[in-house]
Amino acid sequence: MKTAFQLLLVALTVVPTSAQLGDDILQYVNQLIGSLNGGNVFVGATRPYGMAKACPDTDSQLNQGGFVSDGSNVTGFSAMHDSGTGGSPSLGLFAFFPEPGCPQDDINNCKFPKKARKLKYRNDTVKASPNFFSVQLENGVTVDMTSAVHASLFRFKFPQPDASINARSPMLLLDLTDLQDSRGDNGTIRVDGSTGRMTGNARFNASFGQGSYVAYFCADYRSGGIRDNGIFVNSRASADVKELTISKGINGYPLPGGGFTRFTQSGEVLARIGLSLISENQACQSAEREIPDFDFQTTQNQGVDEWRAKLSPISASTNGVSRDLLVNFYSGIYRTFVNPQDYTGENPLWQSDEPYFDSFYCLWDQFRSQLPFLTLVDPSQVERMIRSLIDTYRYVGWLPDCRMTLTKGYTQGGSNADVVLTDGYLKGLTSGINWDDGYKAIVKDAEEEPYDWCCQGRGGLDSWKRLGYIPVEDFDFKGFGTFTRSISRTLEYSYNDFCISEFARAAGGRDIDVTKYRDRSGNWRNLFKNTQTSNFGNGSNTGFTGFYQPRYLNGTFGFQDPLACSLVDPVQGRSCSLQVNSVESYESSIWEYMFYVPHDQATLISTLGGPTEYVRRLNYLHDQNITYIGNEPSFLTVYQFHYAGRPAESARRVHYYIPRSFGITYDGLPGNDDSGTLGAYVAFCMMGTLVMPGQNVYLITPPFFESVNITNPTTNRTATIRNINFDPKYEAIYIQNATLDGQPYTKNWLDHSFFTEGKELVLTLGKTESTWGTSVDDLPPSLGSYDFRPKARKRGGSGGSPLQPRAPYGMDIGKGGVMDLGSGN
Ligand SMILES: *[C@@H]1O[C@H](CO)[C@@H](O)[C@H](O)[C@H]1NC(C)=O
Ligand SMILES: *[C@@H]1O[C@H](CO)[C@@H](O)[C@H](O)[C@H]1NC(C)=O
Ligand SMILES: *[C@@H]1O[C@H](CO)[C@@H](O)[C@H](O)[C@H]1NC(C)=O
Ligand SMILES: *[C@@H]1O[C@H](CO)[C@@H](O)[C@H](O)[C@H]1NC(C)=O
Ligand SMILES: *[C@@H]1O[C@H](CO)[C@@H](O)[C@H](O)[C@H]1NC(C)=O
Ligand SMILES: *[C@@H]1O[C@H](CO)[C@@H](O)[C@H](O)[C@H]1NC(C)=O
Ligand SMILES: *[C@@H]1O[C@H](CO)[C@@H](O)[C@H](O)[C@H]1NC(C)=O
Ligand SMILES: *[C@@H]1O[C@H](CO)[C@@H](O)[C@H](O)[C@H]1NC(C)=O
Ligand SMILES: *[C@@H]1O[C@H](CO)[C@@H](O)[C@H](O)[C@H]1NC(C)=O
Ligand SMILES: *[C@@H]1O[C@H](CO)[C@@H](O)[C@H](O)[C@H]1NC(C)=O
Repeated sequence: MKTAFQLLLVALTVVPTSAQLGDDILQYVNQLIGSLNGGNVFVGATRPYGMAKACPDTDSQLNQGGFVSDGSNVTGFSAMHDSGTGGSPSLGLFAFFPEPGCPQDDINNCKFPKKARKLKYRNDTVKASPNFFSVQLENGVTVDMTSAVHASLFRFKFPQPDASINARSPMLLLDLTDLQDSRGDNGTIRVDGSTGRMTGNARFNASFGQGSYVAYFCADYRSGGIRDNGIFVNSRASADVKELTISKGINGYPLPGGGFTRFTQSGEVLARIGLSLISENQACQSAEREIPDFDFQTTQNQGVDEWRAKLSPISASTNGVSRDLLVNFYSGIYRTFVNPQDYTGENPLWQSDEPYFDSFYCLWDQFRSQLPFLTLVDPSQVERMIRSLIDTYRYVGWLPDCRMTLTKGYTQGGSNADVVLTDGYLKGLTSGINWDDGYKAIVKDAEEEPYDWCCQGRGGLDSWKRLGYIPVEDFDFKGFGTFTRSISRTLEYSYNDFCISEFARAAGGRDIDVTKYRDRSGNWRNLFKNTQTSNFGNGSNTGFTGFYQPRYLNGTFGFQDPLACSLVDPVQGRSCSLQVNSVESYESSIWEYMFYVPHDQATLISTLGGPTEYVRRLNYLHDQNITYIGNEPSFLTVYQFHYAGRPAESARRVHYYIPRSFGITYDGLPGNDDSGTLGAYVAFCMMGTLVMPGQNVYLITPPFFESVNITNPTTNRTATIRNINFDPKYEAIYIQNATLDGQPYTKNWLDHSFFTEGKELVLTLGKTESTWGTSVDDLPPSLGSYDFRPKARKRGGSGGSPLQPRAPYGMDIGKGGVMDLGSGN
C-alpha cells in the first residue's frame, strides 16, 4: 500500500560495522533500513510477532512506524506499533515523555501537550539492534528500550536538573494518546499515590479501516524514589488529583491528558508498561509475569535469543560477498517477523481457543511474499496465522483482506486471503487447521457479496458471474464499496478464483468447483482490448498494441491511459489509491497490471503476441521506468521472463533492482515495507527463488551468495542452493546448467518439496545466457498450454492482428455468459 509514489534512490552507503559479533547472524540486522523515504518500518524493540513494540514516536509526516530518521521531533515513547504501513499512522499508544526537571520546580512549568513538549533527538545517539533501541533527546535524557511479549521496559537516564532554572526533580509523563491523535471520549487514567502504579485505557480509531478499539495499560516505575505523582490535563497538572476521565475535546485534536511522576533524584528510572486489549488487570499481569524484576538486560537477552532462533533457518555463505549484501538479506528477513502480531489471549471480540493474530496489514501485500516466506522458515507460526484467519471468518463472517487493531481494514483489490489459504494448503500446512472451514471461507468470498465490500469479500459479484468481468460504473445494489479499480479487481478476482479451483483440485471430491472456478479464472481476458495503443505524454507511441481497458456493463470498452498511475504518468497528481476519484487499476498502471495473470502466463504470452513480444514488452516496462518497483504489483514482473523461456532475463533484472532500489541505507527501501513484504521479496530474490504465491512453484535465479542453506523447521531438512563459478562481481549470473540432488535439472522452477525434503540445487554460472531452462518443458506450470511456434503476425505502428478466440485451457472452456475475447470497440 502506498500513500504516494516515491522516487527510486541509489543506495550505496555502508552501515557502521558492529563490534566483535563473530559469527552471530544478528550482526547483519539493521533495523534502521527503511526508516526514511517512506519505508515506514518499525525500528524499535520487539519480539518476533510481539504485541509490545517500543520505539520513539515522531512528528514526521511519515511517522506510520513511529520513529523516522529524518531529524523530526520526538513526541513520546510508546509500546505498540505497526511496521511499514501506509494509511494513517497506527497505534503508538500511551506515550511516555521525560523532562529533566520543571523550571522553578513548578510542575505546571513542565510541558505536557505533545505539541509543546516535543523535542529533537540527537542523531548520532541512535542505536538499534534486535530487541533494543536507544536515543538521546536534546534535553539530555537518554532512553533505552526493550520488549517482552505484551510489555516493554524503558530505561530513562536523566541528567542533573538544571539548577540555573531552579529545576529539581526529573519528571516522566504518560499520555493518553496515539500516533494519529484519534482518542475518543472517556480515556481514563488512575494513579496510585503509594505504589506509583498507573492504569488506564482509551478508545482509538483504526488507522486503515473501519471502527475503533479500546486498549489498556499498566505502568510501574523503579527509581531512586518517587517525589509525587498525579494527572495532567492540557498544560496543567496536580499531584492532588489521582484520577482522570477525559473528553476527546472539541477541536479535532484530542485534549492532552494523562499522568505524571516526579522522582526524587536524577539518574536511572525504569518504566515498565504492560499492554492489553482485554483489561487493565491483564495488562498488569502480563507486565508482572514477563518482566518481573525490571531486569533490562535479561528482557533484552531473551528477545535476542528469540531473534537468533527465528533467523537461524537461513544461512548464506559469506565467501567473497560484501557485508552490505548480507545486511540487506538478513535485515529483510528480520522484518518479515515483526508483523503480523500474535494477540492470542488478547482478543475481546470472541471466545475461542484458536490463536488470534492481528496486523495483517495488509494481506493484499503480504500474500505476495511475506507469508509464503514465513511458510519456508516458520511454518508452524503460519499454521497458527491461518487458523486465526479462519477463526476470524467464523466470528466476523469473512476472511479479512487487511486487519489491524481488532478492526476490519480496507480491501484494496481482491479477496487475497484466498491466495494465502491456498498457498498454505498446497504446501501441506496442517497442524490444527480446519481446512473444511477454510475452504468454506474462500468459496464465500467468491459467491456471496457482502453489504460492505469496502472491508471484506468482493464487490460486483453479480456482474462477475454474469458478464465475466467487473464493469466500470457497475450497477451493484447488493453491496457497497469504492466503485473504482475495475481492472485490477477483475485481475485479482480471476487469480483468487484460480486459487479456489486449485484448492478444490488438491482437496479432491469437488470437481464441480474445480471447473467452475477455473473457468472464472479466465475472466481477465474479457478486459483485453486488442486494438488499444499507448502513448507517452509527449505523444510518441510506445509501439505496443493490446491492453486491458475498462469495460462497461453493455460490453463497450471505456478508456484509461495505459500509463496512468505509472511512474511516467503524463498527468501529475492523479489519484491512484482508494480515493473515490481514483482509476480502474489500483496503485499501478494498466501497463504493469497487463502481466498480472499468475496462473496463465501461457495464454497471456499468446495474447501479447508470443514470447518474443512478451519479453520485449516486459523489458520495456522496466527500461522505460513504467514499473514502480517499490509497490507490490511490480513484484512478479521482475521474474516473469521465466515463463517466456528467458530465466536469464529475470536474473539480469534482479541484479538491476538489488541493491540499486533495495539497499541498506535508511532511505534504502523504494516504498512502504508493508509489514515486511518488501523485506521478504528481497530475501526471496537474494536467496535464488521467487515464490509464485498460491502455487507450488518457486522460480529459480542464482543466489547472490555462493550458497544458501534453508532449513525447514518442521522436517529439520536443509535445502541448499549452491552456485558453481560464483562471481561476487555478478557478471556471471546466468545459469548454464543445474543439478538437483546430483541429477541434471533443466526446469527453471522448483516445488515446495525442495524445501521440506531438503534437496540440493547446484547451479553452474556463466557470463552469457544459455539454453538452460528455456524449452517449453522447462517452464513453470500454466493453465493454458505454451505455444511458442513463430507466428505470422503483421506488426505495424498501430495495428496488431485481432486476437483469435480459442480454447486457451484445452479444457472446460467457459460456458454461457463469458463474452467474446477482445471484441473491442
Ligand atoms: C542521521 O544519521 C543517519 C546515519 O548517519 C543519516 O542517514 C541521516 O540522514 C541523519 N539524519 C539527520 C536528520 O541528520
Ligand atoms: C520540531 O518542532 C519544532 C517546534 O514545534 C518545529 O518548529 C519544527 O518544525 C519541528 N521539526 C520537524 C522536523 O518537524
Ligand atoms: C475517529 O472516529 C470517529 C468516529 O468515526 C470520528 O468522528 C473521528 O473524526 C475519528 N478521528 C480521527 C482522528 O480520525
Ligand atoms: C463517556 O462517559 C459518559 C459519562 O459516563 C457517558 O455518558 C458517555 O456515553 C461515554 N462516552 C463513550 C463514548 O463511552
Ligand atoms: C550448508 O550446510 C552444509 C551441510 O551441513 C554445510 O556444509 C555448509 O557449510 C552450509 N552452508 C552454509 C552457507 O551455511
Ligand atoms: C517521448 O518520451 C519517451 C519517454 O520518455 C521518449 O522515449 C521519446 O523519445 C520521447 N519522444 C519524443 C518525440 O520526444
Ligand atoms: C455502453 O455504455 C457506455 C457508458 O454508458 C456508453 O458510453 C456507450 O455508448 C454504450 N454503448 C452502446 C453500444 O450502447
Ligand atoms: C529511469 O530512472 C532512472 C533512475 O531515476 C534514470 O537513471 C533513467 O534515466 C530513467 N530511464 C528512463 C528511460 O527514463
Ligand atoms: C536437526 O538436524 C540436525 C542435523 O542433522 C541435528 O543436529 C539436530 O539435532 C536436529 N534437530 C531436531 C530438532 O531434530
Ligand atoms: C555444466 O556446465 C559446465 C560448463 O559449461 C560443464 O563443465 C559441466 O560439465 C556441466 N555440467 C552438467 C551436469 O551438465
